[in-house]
Amino acid sequence: AAVMILWAVIGYGLGSVPFGMVVTRLFGLGNLREIGSGNIGTTNVLRTGSKAAAALTLILDGGKGAAAVLLARSLAGEDAAQAAGLMAFLGHCFPVWLGFKGGKGVATFLGLMLALAWPVGIACCLTWLAAAAASRISSMGALVSAASAAVWALVLGYQPVAVLAVLLAAVVLIRHAANIARLRAGTEPRIGQK
Ligand code: G3P
Repeated sequence: AAVMILWAVIGYGLGSVPFGMVVTRLFGLGNLREIGSGNIGTTNVLRTGSKAAAALTLILDGGKGAAAVLLARSLAGEDAAQAAGLMAFLGHCFPVWLGFKGGKGVATFLGLMLALAWPVGIACCLTWLAAAAASRISSMGALVSAASAAVWALVLGYQPVAVLAVLLAAVVLIRHAANIARLRAGTEPRIGQK
């Protein structure tokens, strides 16, 4: 149990680093909280106009989820890997440093899935791409991808990951409440739109 708690804390610590805010500041693009949706993720970094900053945010936010899983797996096994991945995701969504008001978890979810069960991760990434390409809306990609994760886990033979995927999808859904309201009202901005 002590080992699991340790990996949960390490996962949370990694996940709670708001790379979008850090990258935006380092690129001299201002305070991400005052841009677009005010969210700390890749989609909102793209609204600064810098594709490089957005790409870097995606890699770092995805990378922290993957890093948590791979580190925990190599040192403590599969259960620790799941716990660390989940906690990295929760760290991103609810970081103590930002008064627990963090991001929506999409990049971190994709990163941890790629590390935990790469076929499921690839399927989720492709689902994001397909839904985002069809709608031109990032949150649509996120919602469809998150909802599909448990189905992909079952179809591809990763039963233990399916339970985790349901949990992740539920939090992604909750974190997108404002996006869902805008989608229903037809006012959700398209990708790249300010
Ligand atoms: O992954 C976040 C994305 O789905 C929505 O971001 O900034 O449009 O709320 P944003």
